[in-house]
Amino acid sequence: MVKFHSNLLIAGLALVSFAAVASKAQEPADQEPVKKESVALKNIAASKSIYVGAKKCKSCHDKESRGGTYSKWTEMKHAKALESLKSDAAIAIGKERGIAKPWESGDCLKCHETAYGEPAERKHKKFATDMGVQCESCHGPGSEHVTIRLEVAKDETQKVEEGVIREVEKGEIFLPDEMLCRNCHNEESPSFKEFNFGERLEKIRHLHPNREKPRVVPPKKVVKKGEKEEVKE
Ligand code: HEC
Ligand code: HEC
Ligand code: HEC
Ligand code: HEC
Repeated sequence: MVKFHSNLLIAGLALVSFAAVASKAQEPADQEPVKKESVALKNIAASKSIYVGAKKCKSCHDKESRGGTYSKWTEMKHAKALESLKSDAAIAIGKERGIAKPWESGDCLKCHETAYGEPAERKHKKFATDMGVQCESCHGPGSEHVTIRLEVAKDETQKVEEGVIREVEKGEIFLPDEMLCRNCHNEESPSFKEFNFGERLEKIRHLHPNREKPRVVPPKKVVKKGEKEEVKE
């Protein structure tokens, strides 16, 4: 009986994967591949943490021994994303769309601000909305992470090993993926520029100084003989 069930399951799975292959084969060659969902965004949505804001990350992540990440971020365009909405270019874009104040419009803020559209209870009362695309836009809400790390930092033995990379708990804080970036870097943006994940990643990457190799990497490109370039996971 059990055997019968598992056979049925295998047959079912085979059918499903056959259907997937079949539908893929029907896709016209020039059509954009179906957008994959972001695992990072899914994990972030399921997280119980709330958004606390970049200033909360500064005390630990501005240290030179951790790569001075906070200061690096302030130099990124992301940190200035709200200011950009007050530029002449932004005002001109707004004018075309009947938006008088882009810096107050959800049509623009949804990509130029952090956690825009998240319910109020998911943001700390001191969460600053005027700091553009902050750490938590890419790493998810950080309240649990901050609580855990403050607790761990009380342990003297942890301090001795300053500069050593520590493991974080699963679900404590997240690393972004390509689809998370594309949630903002897409054609809905009035000034959209082609988004090459690998190239853009290099412009914003901030590894721990002791990290040997990056963990977030674009998929490898595989070119088969006589075929168009194909992206493989
Ligand atoms: C009390 C100190 C402290 C604070 C505050 C803090 N962090 Fe961290 N964070 C750490 C430590 C320790 C690690 C482990 C890596 C290391 O040793 O540097 C870490 C690791 C991380 C990682 C890497 C996770 C991984 O999978 O390896 C991210 C991303 C991160 N922090 C983001 C944030 C963000 C965003 C904030 C603000 C909301 C923040 N941190 C606030 C101490 C802190
Ligand atoms: C919440 C929306 C949002 C997310 C998520 C996001 N970005 Fe951005 N990004 C922006 C905005 C808005 C700007 C433009 C900022 C400005 O100039 O005002 C920008 C600018 C940039 C720039 C600077 C433009 C340049 O080429 O000089 C780079 C690089 C970049 N993003 C890479 C990334 C990568 C890589 C990810 C994912 C790991 C990512 N972004 C995730 C909204 C986002
Ligand atoms: C879907 C997300 C999204 C929306 C919505 C959006 N933006 Fe942006 N915006 C971006 C990204 C991402 C960039 C960075 C440019 C790039 O790399 O594609 C950007 C860049 C800009 C820039 C800088 C352009 C440059 O070349 O330096 C201005 C100005 C701007 N946006 C204005 C606006 C205005 C005004 C609105 C509302 C009418 C708006 N944006 C809505 C995502 C968005
Ligand atoms: C535009 C997206 C983006 C923003 C904004 C951003 N990060 Fe990151 N962060 C990344 C990506 C991508 C990685 C993965 C790097 C890798 O391993 O390849 C990363 C990695 C990290 C790590 C782990 C580094 C390591 O090697 O262990 C820490 C810690 C971190 N970020 C903290 C921050 C803090 C703090 C801020 C704000 C001050 C911030 N990040 C803002 C995208 C972002």
